[in-house]
Amino acid sequence: MTEIERRRTFAIISHPDAGKTTLTEKFLLFGGQIQVAGAVKNNKIKKTATSDWMDIEKQRGISVSTSVMEFDYNGYKVNILDTPGHQDFAEDTYRTLTAVDSAIIVVDSAKGVEAQTRKLMEVCRMRNTPVIIFINKMDREGRDPFDLLDELEEELNIHVRPLSWPINQGQRFKGVYNIYEQKLNLFTPNKQRVTEKVEIDINSNNLDEQVGAENASQLRDDLELVNGVYPEFDIESYRNAEVAPVFFGSALNNFGVQELLDCFVQIAPSPKPTKAEERMVEPTEPKFTGFIFKITANIDPNHRSCIAFCKVCSGKFVRNAPYHHIRLDKTVRFSSPTQFMAQRKSTVDEAYPGDIVGLPDNGIFKIGDTLTEGENIHFRGLPSFSPLLFKYIENDDPMKSKQFQKGIEQLMNEGVAQMFVNQFNNRRIIGTVGQLQFEVIQYRLEHEYNAKCRWEPVHLHKACWIESDDEQELENFKKRKYQYMAKDIEGRDVFLADSGYVLSMAEQDFKHIKFHFTSEF
Ligand code: G4P
Repeated sequence: MTEIERRRTFAIISHPDAGKTTLTEKFLLFGGQIQVAGAVKNNKIKKTATSDWMDIEKQRGISVSTSVMEFDYNGYKVNILDTPGHQDFAEDTYRTLTAVDSAIIVVDSAKGVEAQTRKLMEVCRMRNTPVIIFINKMDREGRDPFDLLDELEEELNIHVRPLSWPINQGQRFKGVYNIYEQKLNLFTPNKQRVTEKVEIDINSNNLDEQVGAENASQLRDDLELVNGVYPEFDIESYRNAEVAPVFFGSALNNFGVQELLDCFVQIAPSPKPTKAEERMVEPTEPKFTGFIFKITANIDPNHRSCIAFCKVCSGKFVRNAPYHHIRLDKTVRFSSPTQFMAQRKSTVDEAYPGDIVGLPDNGIFKIGDTLTEGENIHFRGLPSFSPLLFKYIENDDPMKSKQFQKGIEQLMNEGVAQMFVNQFNNRRIIGTVGQLQFEVIQYRLEHEYNAKCRWEPVHLHKACWIESDDEQELENFKKRKYQYMAKDIEGRDVFLADSGYVLSMAEQDFKHIKFHFTSEF
């Protein structure tokens, strides 16, 4: 396999608590990155397996920052992009999804499709990202597998095709049959390690002996039904994001995880072409291109440094080579780019399409920046969605206004939240998905920039990016709504509607203006 063909860059995503972290840990375990999984309340191990770098998330025990974990598995190079578990940081997850070639969605077998599952699926659909669904916690009394599959199809609006099948569930859960490889491996349940397995022919009496006659006959019946109801698995339909393969298991007990991983590396797409404003960029092109999808500050609290995560889209990234920073129109070199292995990181000399390299950032990067070997192309911006919560942010310490200014600017470049500057009174409005984002901003301003902020209420319903071919109408609109017009950090016009009613009236009255609810249009 070539370096590009063997790469699998993906994210594991879920509604909080469905088991994303546990599954990630088990992948690392199979990948040999860690020896013991810490799912059983062993926080010390848990900390090394997951990667929670920021001080704040350690204090709060939630995973705020996105990081990368990579390992080799059966000849494949697997890059897992971790996403924050807390839904207040959903924006971070959406951005990470722009850097992956596929995703695994974890669903809790008892809860089925949850709010965040729907939203994440929507984001995957926007970019045609292929998804695999892992139905977790089969060791708990959950719902009937066929009912769950129906719910997935209905709620997520995608066809599904089971590629593994559970043998009973709850306390009587015995393991999963691997439909993809048509074989059954029974593992000894073990929460921490990868354990011995036995291979069983499901048509033999051995199956009855191993799992009990009743379970054996149920499994045979279920499989007949599955193969009767669902069309044959077609890898192209999966890669075109038309069908989602479904796996069952228990991440905690290590059931069904290897089946998932083995199949995943075989069927998941290798790096795909990336859309730039000017043209499509193929991963096989000889010259390096990449974009920044994530910036994390203070990986090491002793050095106040940032790391910008760059997804390699084409060519080969080489340490110390001169690259063109398109937005700044500047040549940049990186003498110590890093790659990530669970929590360890090491200097990388070269990286291929699909890889993520960490670039030390002293304030030169913004989310969405493009790097090339010279060609003037721009990768499509990363989507911002209209925030749900809005507050005015004010400097609370007049002696520290420089620090405040710098802190806000840097945090917004990192994409911690969105900022709009009201054109009427010049006040800054911060928009977020959740309350916690406000707290992070306040905390980081204090601890990293030595600045203080104060929040003041502003009553807003939605932010919409506006555009029109009719210059006159656009000007009229801006004049009429001057109190509610703002600029985002890219300088684009944003209308801040204070109610749903006002918004729908505006849409009615100004027919030639398009109101967008994401910044990518
Ligand atoms: P998340 O990242 O999606 O938020 O979920 P996470 O892996 O942290 O899992 C959430 C809870 O679900 C954890 O329990 C975890 O142990 C449990 N869990 C994960 N997979 C399984 C499974 O296959 N079966 C069962 N029964 N439980 C599972 P917790 O009590 O919140 O945390 P912990 O202290 O046990 O780690």
